[in-house]
Amino acid sequence: MKVSKAVFPVAGLGTRFLPATKAVPKEMLPVVDKPLIQYAVEEALYAGIKEIVFVTGSSKQAIEDHFDHFCELEQTLIARSKEALLKGIALLVPESGTFIYTRQNEPLGLGHAIWCARHIVGNEPFAVLLADDLMKSKKPVLGQMIEQFDKLQSSIVCVEEVDPMATASYGILDADPPKDRLTKVRGLVEKPKPEKAPSNLAIIGRYILTPEIFSILELKETGAGGEIQITDAMARLLAQQSIYGYRYEGQRFDCGTKVGFQMANLSYAFDRPDMRERLMPFLRQMLKVCAIEN
Ligand code: G1P
Repeated sequence: MKVSKAVFPVAGLGTRFLPATKAVPKEMLPVVDKPLIQYAVEEALYAGIKEIVFVTGSSKQAIEDHFDHFCELEQTLIARSKEALLKGIALLVPESGTFIYTRQNEPLGLGHAIWCARHIVGNEPFAVLLADDLMKSKKPVLGQMIEQFDKLQSSIVCVEEVDPMATASYGILDADPPKDRLTKVRGLVEKPKPEKAPSNLAIIGRYILTPEIFSILELKETGAGGEIQITDAMARLLAQQSIYGYRYEGQRFDCGTKVGFQMANLSYAFDRPDMRERLMPFLRQMLKVCAIEN
């Protein structure tokens, strides 16, 4: 079985970034000049995904508009001979019918959001990408995972070693440290306190799931935070199937936090020679001021 569909749960309210996210979806916040959601969609497309499924909520219209024509803007760019900008905008418009939108009508958790895509995904393995986790890598992280899936034909979660004191922010694996980037999962726990965590291997926002997960999510069992958790559903799936953790190659920016979001902006800005040249003296100056103040 091949992975050709990717689900993007984008219904969250983004309260951590208020007031910025009052009228703008958090997925549309830009890292340098590209919205977070576009990085994740591009990662999926580069990995060979053919159909993109957005699970949206109210006030997420901007995401649909971003991946569509904007005639007035296009006419203006043509009139002003801004070919490069025009090309960038045109690339955002997918072939009709390949980007599909469905709604999560109630905020019942990540597992519930994924379950909302069940009829669109059907009976095949699929990917899930959380746009908050911005993955910078030579080879798209989802592509690395699909390569593993093609060999294993089992569900795979992306993992990273985190500070043992930070386990309550993540789904955590009960598994040995990865060898050649892979580890077989014995169990999964959503957001355990450090003293209860079976390891420091945290789930990062990339999953490849087999369709059997849907009948488990259908039970609508709630877990951490009173929500329907994908981590709990995967823990149940373990009774039927193997699940693997995959230690990705690359760098993750946790853009669900303000600090991670700023780090991402700096890192991606530094990749642009023109911006790097102007940022460098500014940062040196700032560091000097901080050193004096401390
Ligand atoms: C979600 C998942 C969690 C995972 C995390 C990765 O949590 O529930 O298991 O580790 O994404 O970013 P959230 O960050 O939405 O609270």
